[in-house]
Amino acid sequence: MAFQPADLSIVIPTFNERGNLPELIRRIDAALGDIRWEAIIVDDDSPDGTADQARQMYLEDARVRCIHRLGRRGLSSACIEGMLTSSARFLAVMDADLQHDPSVLRTMYDMLAADEADLVIGSRYTSGGSVGQWDGRRLAISRLATRLSNLATKRPVADTMSGFFSLKRQVFEDCAKNLSSLGFKILLDIIASCKESVRIREVPYTFGARLSGESKLSTNVAWEFLLLLADKMVGKYLPVRFLAFAFIGSLGVGVHFLVLTLMFKVGKAPFAVSQATATAVAILFNFSLNNVLTYAGQSLKGAAWFRGLLTFYLICGIGAVANVGVSSYLFVHDTYWAIAALAGILMSVVWNYAVSARYTWKTA
Ligand code: GDD
Ligand code: MN
Repeated sequence: MAFQPADLSIVIPTFNERGNLPELIRRIDAALGDIRWEAIIVDDDSPDGTADQARQMYLEDARVRCIHRLGRRGLSSACIEGMLTSSARFLAVMDADLQHDPSVLRTMYDMLAADEADLVIGSRYTSGGSVGQWDGRRLAISRLATRLSNLATKRPVADTMSGFFSLKRQVFEDCAKNLSSLGFKILLDIIASCKESVRIREVPYTFGARLSGESKLSTNVAWEFLLLLADKMVGKYLPVRFLAFAFIGSLGVGVHFLVLTLMFKVGKAPFAVSQATATAVAILFNFSLNNVLTYAGQSLKGAAWFRGLLTFYLICGIGAVANVGVSSYLFVHDTYWAIAALAGILMSVVWNYAVSARYTWKTA
């Protein structure tokens, strides 16, 4: 008998979830019974050997597949890659730690199969749903983020932050090329990118306690969330990375003036020395901040950090020369001095951004 294709691909992003996988798959199988499902585990080279564990499980049950990603981190991009490998009619995304109840998968699947919806969200905020044991602070933050994201998507969804949902593969395919794959809010990304005709419904569930291991979403989440929102709102016109870069650049100007004032005005150091030090410190500041914020998820570390810093000094140096060149040229050709200065600054920001993306962080 030919191997039967799956009707439902369950994409499970993992980072250090080795201990949770066997129980998760056991519960999925128990909940889905007669449905032809497959699990696609997308692991970002977890140090605890989650990928090995997943491959081991394949040998016992060929419905469990593993995508082992190297040199990359990111919840959204992991989910997207997992969904892209599926050829099944329906997709689901869920966490590996059993905070998402596998029996809800069944409800979601039935709704999609009966064509009652195109995208079904496991929701903590519709009646019957609950966040379980969250403290007031996490609840308030989550609520605020949901409100903000409704502004970006213009869709009345109660739980846009949910990491638990199911959809027709066609819906995903239609919007896959528009996804930002930034950060960890994959559902928000899909809702903001999909056609208006996509019918969205929510089913309640209670966010459970983690079975084992710990949450990975503690650092940088607020920033990544803002980046995604900005990308959904203005990303069509300007790359959001550029906005972040320019924003950090403007903070760098503040740092520059702080150092300059301290040395020149307070410390009475010579102007040239003060200005040079301020420049060096501002570039160091910009590099460090861009490394953890603009390039969160691919931050340079160790020796690569120093190599990156060197290239960044070089690039910004050339940027500064170009800045002075362009603005002086405009100035002597009768451009108002402030406009000439702004043009020079704009030109060096674009240069610094584009070239450092390529040579410092090696993205483009
Ligand atoms: N491949 C991959 N790469 N997987 C990741 C990464 C990553 O960089 N970071 C986290 N994961 C996996 C985890 O292993 C887990 O299976 C799932 O993604 C969710 O991560 P958790 O660390 O358990 O997140 P959480 O419980 O704090 O947050 C959950 O609830 C949020 C709602 O408040 C997630 O479902 C979020 O998506 C959701 O927004
Ligand atoms: Mn979790």
